[in-house]
Amino acid sequence: MTATYQVHDGVAVITLDHPPVNGLGHATRTGIMNGMSRALDDAAVEAIVITGAGKAFSGGADIREFGTPKAFQEPSLATVIDTIERSAKPVVAAIHSVAMGGGLELALGCHYRLATRQAKIALPEVNLGLLPGAGGTQRLPRAIGLEAALNTIVSGKTMLAEKFAGTGLFNEIVADDVVVAAVKFARTAAERAGPHPKLRDIPVQHAHAEAYLGFARSTVAASAGPYPAPLACVNAVAASLRPFDEGIEAERDGFMSLMNTPESRALRQAFLGERAASRIPDVPADTPTRAIAKVAVIGAGTMGGGIAMNFLNAGVPVTLLEMKADALERGVGAIRRNYENTAKKGKLTQDEVDARIARLATTLSYDDIRDADLVIEAVFEDLEVKKSVFQRLDEVAKPGAILASNTSTLDIDAIASFTKRPRDVIGMHFFSPANVMKLLEVVRGAQTAKDVLATVMQLAKKIGKVAVVSGVCDGFIGNRMIEQYSRQAGFLLDEGALPQQVDRAIERFGFAMGPFRMIDMAGNDISWAIRKRRAVEQPEFNYSKTGDLLCEMGRFGQKVQAGWYDYKPGDRRAYPSAVVDEMIVQHSRDLGIARRKISDEEIVERLVFALVNEGALILQEGIASKASDIDMVYLHGYGFPKFRGGPMQYADEIGLYAVAQAIRRYARGYQGHAWQVAPLLQRLADAGASFND
Ligand code: 3HC
Ligand code: NAI
Repeated sequence: MTATYQVHDGVAVITLDHPPVNGLGHATRTGIMNGMSRALDDAAVEAIVITGAGKAFSGGADIREFGTPKAFQEPSLATVIDTIERSAKPVVAAIHSVAMGGGLELALGCHYRLATRQAKIALPEVNLGLLPGAGGTQRLPRAIGLEAALNTIVSGKTMLAEKFAGTGLFNEIVADDVVVAAVKFARTAAERAGPHPKLRDIPVQHAHAEAYLGFARSTVAASAGPYPAPLACVNAVAASLRPFDEGIEAERDGFMSLMNTPESRALRQAFLGERAASRIPDVPADTPTRAIAKVAVIGAGTMGGGIAMNFLNAGVPVTLLEMKADALERGVGAIRRNYENTAKKGKLTQDEVDARIARLATTLSYDDIRDADLVIEAVFEDLEVKKSVFQRLDEVAKPGAILASNTSTLDIDAIASFTKRPRDVIGMHFFSPANVMKLLEVVRGAQTAKDVLATVMQLAKKIGKVAVVSGVCDGFIGNRMIEQYSRQAGFLLDEGALPQQVDRAIERFGFAMGPFRMIDMAGNDISWAIRKRRAVEQPEFNYSKTGDLLCEMGRFGQKVQAGWYDYKPGDRRAYPSAVVDEMIVQHSRDLGIARRKISDEEIVERLVFALVNEGALILQEGIASKASDIDMVYLHGYGFPKFRGGPMQYADEIGLYAVAQAIRRYARGYQGHAWQVAPLLQRLADAGASFND
């Protein structure tokens, strides 16, 4: 059942009832139509109220149906809205909570609308690369005016219903039970003679429409970047100045063409992928969780401070533990400064800053963290240091406490083995700055208990992170893939490219920052140390030696104002470096390589397909349970362009056959043995399938 039907004193109440958010998929649309038919056929019914059960009036069209025939199968949303609008009996929308997208459009088709003050209203289609496609671009301007409607639709922002009090959007904003109020309103409306008001009948007026729309178009075009939807929204709203039916036709054309853009597919996939990340195949949604009321963080360095802030912000008390008083002082000072800077920008009040700082306790003694429900370790990246910390935690932590490590490269199973409770040990790999970056890789050890995993996933939501589960392997999902990307970037230098060309090409593709600018920021010495360790453990691992040569020149990056680029004091911009370029060219000469002109297309393909190929191996090995998890890691932790949906989604767009072919082609070149098409990628390519099927 997707809609219930009841009659109260001559008023039929149709209640959308399709959890979680009453999405307007085919079944719900049919449910509404059945309710409408019953009400229209029943002479005892004089008026109709439409409302929603649970946490929403309606979250809009069912995003999962997009791209399938069901999306437009009759009764389509347009048919449902048309039926409501044509009804001779008055129809009243009773909105108690979320009314978004198609949900708000459904309400706009009703003759009257009532909402609670706190109801959340939006036409957020633009966030999915779409425009409102069920009359929203035509009826909203008729309800609240051209400019307000355009802003609402182009921004996609959620607003409280009370903001629209006094506009044609709501007949009443109510404080109490909106359904009771709507039934009463409907009964009164039924007593009035004559047709009931339809938004479609109101002309849209604007004294300087042309000038205003010209301004809107140029402003929106300037900020829309690679996305076609914002401008298409303006054009659809502009069509509301025309007769209603013409406007609806323009809206439908715009909607259909956006639906087929790669940008919209990417954004829709990202929306669903973000939510799918919390579903773990063998951990059911009803797995019990452990209560986390107190958190301890070990190590008040770069990561420990940022990690602590996440919990302080979410109202969870944190005890920060350090080895030495001065390190603790430095760490707390950094947290305080961070909050004060946010307050200076007007994003936090002084009271909020004080409240957050008040939740922070500090200590040099493990005795003070005995009652912590969760301990997150963020000490030096050294297995012996981690060993001493986890052995101590095993002695002091209360039974059932979750023991997490923020390690970025070490083996969680080895860390778990330092304790007598490996089931309680898990990786929580935050990204720097930990209070800002949305990504959290949750590393599941071989023995991590399911309730520990479920608790950490739930907690991640509470602190506003997108959490993705990774199995144990070197680099987990994100860093393991980036290594292959960086490796190709290095080979490109050996073969003929320069850092600035590689960075420019991949930044044009949409990455926030190219690999060389990025590593200059992080510090070349850190990856140098990792490479030295690797050379001992895995001597056959080949990579471009230009990074080592750079470090031998002392060019560690921005911190010494010299890396792959030159830097100037007080200026964060990267300037191409003649010395580095010469070093690269000389290195090619030493290797006997005739440098060649490399196209931007090759650069992008080699870097991005390196991610894709490693991603396929990660999937195949079960390190990630689904391709969309890999995409979430890249969108939220590595600056992969959102309009391309993540590496796996991008590969699906290109077609896996073409991706596999390209990898095979590049494998014939320099250091070709670094490339081997991942068996899963080949299998899917041969079957004409995709990662995100
Ligand atoms: N279609 C399908 N599923 C939806 C959905 C939708 N429109 N909106 C939410 N869901 C699902 C989510 O995928 C999630 O599923 P899961 O539990 O199986 O993972 C579940 O509902 C709960 O979602 P959230 O975790 O986001 O729950 P919140 O309570 O935090 O937020 C919400 C609820 C505000 C409704 C939020 O989900 C949201 O913003 N949804 C998208 C709204 C939207 O973009 N609507 C426009 C759709 S396009 C459209 O209407 C086209 C029309 O113009 C023709
Ligand atoms: P850091 O050097 O800034 O901080 C480490 C802190 O731990 C120092 O303040 C030190 O005094 C303290 N410490 C060392 N041994 C300790 C002990 N036995 N007991 C208590 N405190 C101790 O290091 P950073 O960058 O914060 O890294 C911490 C961990 O986070 C490492 O495992 C690292 O791999 C990981 N990580 C780092 C990221 C980064 O970008 N810096 C990103 C993701 C993870």
